[in-house]
Amino acid sequence: MADQYAYSGDDKRPTEIPAIRWEEPPEGPVLVLLDQTRLPAEEVELVCTDASALVEAIRSLAVRGAPLLGIAGAYGVALAAVRGFDVDEAASALATARPTAVNLAVGVRRAQAAHEAALAKGGDVRQAAAAALAAARQLHREDAEASGRMAEHGLALLDELLPGGGHRILTHCNTGSLVSGGEGTAFAVALAAHRVGRLRRLWVDETRPLLQGARLTAYEAARSGMAYTLLTDNAAGSLFAAGEVDAVLIGADRITADGSVANKVGSYPLAVLARYHHVPFIVVAPVTTVDLDTADGASIEVEQRAGHEVTELVAPQAPVAGTEAGGGIPVAPLGTQAYNPAFDVTPPELVTAIVTEEGVVSPVTAEALAEVCARSRRV
Ligand code: MRU
Repeated sequence: MADQYAYSGDDKRPTEIPAIRWEEPPEGPVLVLLDQTRLPAEEVELVCTDASALVEAIRSLAVRGAPLLGIAGAYGVALAAVRGFDVDEAASALATARPTAVNLAVGVRRAQAAHEAALAKGGDVRQAAAAALAAARQLHREDAEASGRMAEHGLALLDELLPGGGHRILTHCNTGSLVSGGEGTAFAVALAAHRVGRLRRLWVDETRPLLQGARLTAYEAARSGMAYTLLTDNAAGSLFAAGEVDAVLIGADRITADGSVANKVGSYPLAVLARYHHVPFIVVAPVTTVDLDTADGASIEVEQRAGHEVTELVAPQAPVAGTEAGGGIPVAPLGTQAYNPAFDVTPPELVTAIVTEEGVVSPVTAEALAEVCARSRRV
C-alpha cells in the first residue's frame, strides 16, 4: 500500500527532501519516496508499506534513475522481510519491475542474499530481516560515497580534456541527487565543476517524452545556483553546430562488457552529434551499473513504455482505467500509434570515457572496463 502526503519537515528546505528514506513510525517500518512524477510542481512524498506499492512507484517513475532503483530495490526486499511478506516473491516482482537498469536487480539481489545468508546461519526471521535492511543501508551509503568519487574523477577528466576551464556541458535526462544516495552521477560532476567556478553553463535537454530534464534536472540545477539553460532535445544539433558545447555528460542504466551504454532515449543521437563535432562524450556511472554478464549492447533489453506518454503531454501515471488514455493533454489524434523506447544504446566507439568511482575508462575497451570493475571487487 502507498499513502501520499505533502512534505511537512518544517525545519528543512525542499532541496533537502531525500529521494528515498527508511522510517520506523509506531505503525511499522515504511519506505518514503519523494514522488518524482509530481516535481517540480509539488514536493509530495509517497509512503510505501509493502513491496507491491514500491513496484508500482518504480513503474510509474515516482522513483527512478539507475542507482536509486538499486537502493529502492534493496529497501523493498527489506520492507517485505520486516513486514513478514514472502521475500522471494517480493524480490522477483521488484527485480523485474523495469528491465533496463541493471542496478535494480543488483540491489534486490544484494538484500535478498543477505536475508538468505542470515537464515542459512541459523538466524530467525527477525534477524534475517535485519540483515536485509543492513544490506540496503550499506548499499545506500556506498552509493553516496561512489557519487563523491565519481565527481572527483569526472572533474579531473574535464580539466584534462578542456584545460581552458569555463566548461559548457550538455546533459540528458536526470542524474543528480534525485537518482542517488549522494549527488548523483553526471550531474555530480557538473556540480563539482560549478563549485570550483569552472562550469560556464549546463545545457539541459528537456528529455522527451517524460521530461526528466525539464522537470528534474532543471529543478536540481536551479537549486544549486548554477547557470543552466533548457532546450528541446531536437535543438541540440544546432547548439553543437554553433560551437556552444564543450562536453556531453550523461549517466547510464546498463553498461555491457564491451562498453556499450544504455541510457535514456536520446543519448545515442547526442553521441553521434558529439563525434561529428569533435566534442567529448562522457558517461558517468558507478560500477554497479556495469553488467559484465551481458556481452554487448544488442543483448540489452530496452524497456518499451506506453504510447500515451508520447501522444499526450507529460502523464507518467498509469492509463485511465478502461481507456487508452493516460490523463494528459492529447498532442496527437486519438488512436495514434507511438514508438516509445525508454532507452537507447550507444556503442563503445562513440564514448570518449566512462567515469566510475574506481577510475576512468578511456579509451573504452572490454579489458579496461573489466579492470576497473575488478578494483571495486578487490576491496
Ligand atoms: O526512465 P528513467 O527516468 O529511470 O531513466 C533514467 C536515466 O536514463 C538516467 O540517465 C540513468 O538512470 C542514469 S541516472 C544516474
